[in-house]
Amino acid sequence: MLFPDLQPKRGALPEGIDLRCCDVAEVLSVASGARLVTADPPWIYSQAPGVADPSLQYDVLKMPEIAGVVNRAADCAHPDGCRLALWNTWPQLGEWVEVTVGMGKEWRWGRILSGGSWHKSGPGGVGYHWIGDSEPVLLYKVGAPPCGRWDSLKNAHNSAREDHSAKPMEWMRGWLRRWTDPGDLVLDLYAGLGSVAVACALEGRRYIGAEIDPERHRRAVLRVEEAYNRR
Ligand SMILES: C[S@@+](CC[C@H](N)C(=O)[O-])C[C@H]1O[C@@H](n2cnc3c(N)ncnc32)[C@H](O)[C@@H]1O
Repeated sequence: MLFPDLQPKRGALPEGIDLRCCDVAEVLSVASGARLVTADPPWIYSQAPGVADPSLQYDVLKMPEIAGVVNRAADCAHPDGCRLALWNTWPQLGEWVEVTVGMGKEWRWGRILSGGSWHKSGPGGVGYHWIGDSEPVLLYKVGAPPCGRWDSLKNAHNSAREDHSAKPMEWMRGWLRRWTDPGDLVLDLYAGLGSVAVACALEGRRYIGAEIDPERHRRAVLRVEEAYNRR
């Protein structure tokens, strides 16, 4: 059932969906009480020059900077607990663990709790050792976030590739149903084309997220509006 406050509006994002065109620092300074933080950072893929190079698509960030931002998001958590779902990549995973373990007690999200993977089908996919057809997502928590629904959310998801970097919205709708309640706040650090914002609009969760690139932000807003008005 849709969150009752989410009324359709013409030419505007649904109520409760705050998708900003700004640096992530801005949303970190205002968000509070998040039940779920999602992050799909703009990693640098030094080993994949050419068509797969994300720096051709958007601003990329060095790993310590990404770790600092993800860490600060713990300040935006609900006092009773919050999960973090962090999209990673297989080639970056080792360095990510090194960087966060190297932060010692400064690292707020503790150990990796669990993980899942998205298996992508369809044309595309690049890689050095093999063609990358899957992406890992790591799960962390602070506090003791509840898990109210014991339905069949799986930690592996198969679906077709979408636009460059867009993540599987249907799977993430399942995360929302499992890990949050209607009206809960979801903080999305790097919104991209707005997949998490669409999922929140359709599942009646409040959303705040940042996308720094005006053109990607414009496309994300359109995506949310279209999905919401079509529902
Ligand atoms: C991997 S993409 C996210 C894709 C997203 N998960 C989706 O489904 O569309 C990373 C995004 O972070 C954005 N970005 C880079 N630096 C940023 C910053 N400092 N603040 C906010 N967004 C940033 C990029 O423009 C890019 O769209």
